[in-house]
Amino acid sequence: MKILIINGPNLNMLGIREPEIYGRKTYQDLVHYIEGAAEALDVSTGFYQSNHEGDLVDVIQDAYGKYDGIIINPAAYTHTSVALLDAVKAVGLPTVEVHISDVSTREEFRQVSYIRQAVIGTIAGKGFDGYVEAIKLLLAHENGSEEHQ
Ligand code: DQA
Repeated sequence: MKILIINGPNLNMLGIREPEIYGRKTYQDLVHYIEGAAEALDVSTGFYQSNHEGDLVDVIQDAYGKYDGIIINPAAYTHTSVALLDAVKAVGLPTVEVHISDVSTREEFRQVSYIRQAVIGTIAGKGFDGYVEAIKLLLAHENGSEEHQ
């Protein structure tokens, strides 16, 4: 299985950014951590991070025909972006939404997620482990849909 892991705005600032919420590890640490776990699960990965909404739309569209699933932490665009929701719907790839922090216990404006309508699952508040859980969810989803063929 080939999975694209997309991270949205300010996640390149992991380690510096609000460490009491997001921890002290960097974006590079996150990529290495996911790569190690994915290898053990026999999954191949691609990574993309951008601070720009249109770039994120482009990379989701580009995943069509190249990847079997998407893991996305849309960061602040979770709470604002219909364009990202539409892009995930457009490609039709199984997608999991991940948040490092537990958005459900944070500010009111973080309670809205546009992309949630189009994803097979949401994992929040589990730190970097949430991305590994998302890989397992995509694997289970793929096995489930194979059984139904
Ligand atoms: C986040 C939560 C969002 O509300 C926030 O805007 C982020 C990161 C998380 O991973 O916990 O940038 O998606």
